[in-house]
Amino acid sequence: MPDLIEALSPEPAFQIQPDPPSPFLEALLDGLSRPQKAIPCRFLYDEAGSKLFDDICRLPEYYPTRTETALLRAHAPQMARRIGAGVRFIELGAGSGGKAEFVLDAMHAQGLPPSAYVCLDISPVPLAATAEAIEQRYPGLPVTAVCGDYLGELDLPASQARDLCFFPGSTIGNFERAEARDFLAHWRERLSAGAMMLIGVDLKKDIPTLERAYDDAQGVTAQFSLNVLARANRELGANFQTARFRHRARYREDPGHIEISLVSQDAQTVAVADSLFHFAPGEAVHIENSHKYSVNEFAALSASAGFDVDAVWTDPRRWFSLHLLRARD
Ligand code: TRP
Repeated sequence: MPDLIEALSPEPAFQIQPDPPSPFLEALLDGLSRPQKAIPCRFLYDEAGSKLFDDICRLPEYYPTRTETALLRAHAPQMARRIGAGVRFIELGAGSGGKAEFVLDAMHAQGLPPSAYVCLDISPVPLAATAEAIEQRYPGLPVTAVCGDYLGELDLPASQARDLCFFPGSTIGNFERAEARDFLAHWRERLSAGAMMLIGVDLKKDIPTLERAYDDAQGVTAQFSLNVLARANRELGANFQTARFRHRARYREDPGHIEISLVSQDAQTVAVADSLFHFAPGEAVHIENSHKYSVNEFAALSASAGFDVDAVWTDPRRWFSLHLLRARD
């Protein structure tokens, strides 16, 4: 609280500071001012959005979570043996619903326990929950939670141990291909020689399967992407009429990504703070891309970022893959 000032003081003793600008407001104003309107996908995950995303992961059409979990369940012992004992296990992104535990359990069961666990996430709430769950499950394992952006500068604690980075969920697919390479190269520089990365990567497959995974029959995915407009109404007093936008997911074959957008159903004007935005009928607001790779494409991308492929696990239909990469010396 500022100090009180005397009523007759000739000069104010303090100034009222305006509220700091909201990152969501800034991003929305900037994104909607572009010729190709866009809203950055990180704003999809408020509380309502995170709940809807959990629902997506259980949908019959959304195969990635289920397939990745099955791969981990089946092959974690082999993964643990290839990774070896005493690593510092760094999980990128919290709240992966127990995926790390498959690998950590296998490491412990085979007498190859990690020496430390670090979880990194941009939002503090799931981060704390994940760190606590790990601490309870593995008594004696030193656990650190680092709140930050895994693309930015980070204060990773110093460590003598070899690092293993675990990045599940095909979140790497939400980077553009060049960004994915930069992301890997960035971690290659940050990690010690001999460090490893275990990454979930969604694979190319027939288009109807891909498109249904991002536009399910019950409309949960549509609700998830439309929630970003509802969030703007809730948090920023915008006046989007969500019923006048439609969720669209379509596969673009070159180079291979699902493109998710919200399409204006008619000509309309929406107010966000002091700005008005016009939407033409059929005009799209870009929300997110989800890139799909072949096993060879991902190996080539990894190689260009300084990693060799140690092993790849995939399901019989070859729908999803886990890549174990080793940092080149
Ligand atoms: N990482 C997820 C993916 O690419 C994110 C995601 C799933 C998503 N369904 C979505 C993002 C629908 C926006 C809309 O598979």
